[in-house]
Amino acid sequence: MKGIILAGGSGSRLYPLTAVTSKQLLLPVYDKPMVYYPLSTLMLAGIRDILIISTPSDLPNFERLLGDGSDYGIRLSYAEQPSPDGLAQAFVIGKEFTEGCPCALALGDNIFYGNGLGKRLRLATASASAGRSTIFGYRVDDPERFGVVEFDEDYNVISIEERPAQPKSSYAVTGLYFFPADACERAAQVVPSARNEYEITDLIRMYLDEGLLDTITLGRGFAWLDTGTMESLYEASAFVRTVERAQDLLVSVPEEIAFANGWITRERLLECAERYDKSDYGHHLRDVAEGKVAPDRHFDQ
Ligand code: G1P
Repeated sequence: MKGIILAGGSGSRLYPLTAVTSKQLLLPVYDKPMVYYPLSTLMLAGIRDILIISTPSDLPNFERLLGDGSDYGIRLSYAEQPSPDGLAQAFVIGKEFTEGCPCALALGDNIFYGNGLGKRLRLATASASAGRSTIFGYRVDDPERFGVVEFDEDYNVISIEERPAQPKSSYAVTGLYFFPADACERAAQVVPSARNEYEITDLIRMYLDEGLLDTITLGRGFAWLDTGTMESLYEASAFVRTVERAQDLLVSVPEEIAFANGWITRERLLECAERYDKSDYGHHLRDVAEGKVAPDRHFDQ
């Protein structure tokens, strides 16, 4: 199973914050760069081979920040998206990378949190390997801003629409998608929409039409935050701060997840802790390495 993080786009709704930098790279969500959150999500899904797609100008900085992935016990690759022409493009750009493997796509500005998330993500991973696609639905007050999924009383998907004027349900399709091995081939068949984008919903609909689509709804006890606007960015920071202070730990720390997954040694974790020694992040890594904090498994129950 492979993973792609799409962190392109101009972030124009966050100007002037994003006038000279990518939001996923340098805008903090409380105490971490935004990209740490989708990276953590894919790692919780058990994915160790990840492609980061961003603009030609931002890509070198992503590489400086995250390197080859060895700090996290994973392999990171990088690819440019010259212009933001839609999410389905990730599978056109990522064709060589995926090498015909099942692949998850995480949007660089989506944050997921909740007990049992890891278990649900791994179900989606297993399902993708078995030829099925999985999306995650989340109830919102403003579904017209998102992809919207409609289902019957047994949660079988009936329809999926991108930003419908009259939404058929209150469930947004979140920015995390698991696809089987043929995603790249199918993505190549997607044609530009009325707003001239290669829509991810068109790719998802191909699986729906063939009865190969599952939805996992993230209900009470889960938080999904998309950080596309100033207000939602601020709310995401406030949320992470509240959770971290209430539990006296940090969330979405890739080095910690790597350690919990058995992908890096305690020595490697201590090396990372030393690098960030003077920050709370560094102290947290040290606490995990020294066994003072149980490594991030609360997602797993
Ligand atoms: C994209 C997708 C949309 C999805 C949303 C989740 O929109 O097109 O279907 O609901 O991500 O964040 P964007 O945020 O790129 O406008």
